[in-house]
Amino acid sequence: MTTRRNVLLAGASALLTTGCKARSSPALPPLKSLVPFPLGTCVMAAQCDDPEWSALATRHFSRLTPEWEMKMEYMLRDDGSLRFDRPDAIVDFATRHGLTVHGHTLIWYAQSNPYFEKLSGDKFLNAYVAYINDVMGHYRGRLPSWDVVNEPITDEGSELRDCLWSRALGREDYIGIALTAAHEADPGAVLFVNDYNLEHAPKKRATFLRLCENLLKNGAPLHGVGSQTHLIADIAPGMIKACIRDLASLGLNLHISEIDISIRESHAGLNGEKAQIRALDELVDAYQQVPAAQRYGMTFWGVRDGDSWRNRQDGLHIPDAPLLFDDQGRAKPLAEAFAAAVRA
Ligand code: XIL
Repeated sequence: MTTRRNVLLAGASALLTTGCKARSSPALPPLKSLVPFPLGTCVMAAQCDDPEWSALATRHFSRLTPEWEMKMEYMLRDDGSLRFDRPDAIVDFATRHGLTVHGHTLIWYAQSNPYFEKLSGDKFLNAYVAYINDVMGHYRGRLPSWDVVNEPITDEGSELRDCLWSRALGREDYIGIALTAAHEADPGAVLFVNDYNLEHAPKKRATFLRLCENLLKNGAPLHGVGSQTHLIADIAPGMIKACIRDLASLGLNLHISEIDISIRESHAGLNGEKAQIRALDELVDAYQQVPAAQRYGMTFWGVRDGDSWRNRQDGLHIPDAPLLFDDQGRAKPLAEAFAAAVRA
């Protein structure tokens, strides 16, 4: 069904594409050279062999987060054995190019595995700790930080998720156990809990903050929080700033961990790009107010629009333009706006 919004968004998409083709953006300095904190992007192993992607990623970013291949879904086989081929390729690429790697992610509600599903009691607990120990042990000393638990709060926002891990080990206990196991596996690693919609959903943010405060009160080795920051371009002014302020109040490392700014999901229509730039400006400004010691860095969830997971979601036919570079690898106005904002 052709709705007004679809027509507007399609028009916005065409404008963005045309605009990008017509614009000849001045040479953009390496973005990582403009910020006093690590600037990252996500990566799939195959992209390391893509010359255009590699040139952009190594020029503009100082840290990589494996997008999928360092997750349980890829590494853990049904018999409990592990494969490290592709995550190792990512770490080797990063090492060759002087980039760091942020481990993502050890425990996630969205991913279980037949290996765990057939276990219970102490066998489950031992396998859970062993998985964390084996994966982090494999990278000990090479990965400075990890998302130990990903997305623990429900979308509705008032409680912790019910998942394979919580059912086996306890609603909050599975998180503390994972953090403790991770710390024992690599005492030098900075350990994070990471979640999304913390800016769009203040109730979810409040529950996330309570979780973190409880973990800290119980002595869990929680060193940082990740706010994924998958934004909708027309997010109301002030919501991003309030989120960053609240998360920074924990006094922990704060990683803006998976930035993309969707135009397709917004109601901004032809003003989508303008709304996107406004949102990024607010994000940068808010993050610059965070004490330097807490600024663990900003990570974009992709380099080029075509790399974005938002353009791989089944059934959606209106392309999105959520990232800094267009499909041809050219800097978009959003990239230029980011460069201007971080210099301000
Ligand atoms: C997504 C990846 O981008 C996709 O390629 C993959 O198929 C599914 O996971 N929050 C997260 C990320 O923490 O791990 C998710 O990444 C996006 C949402």
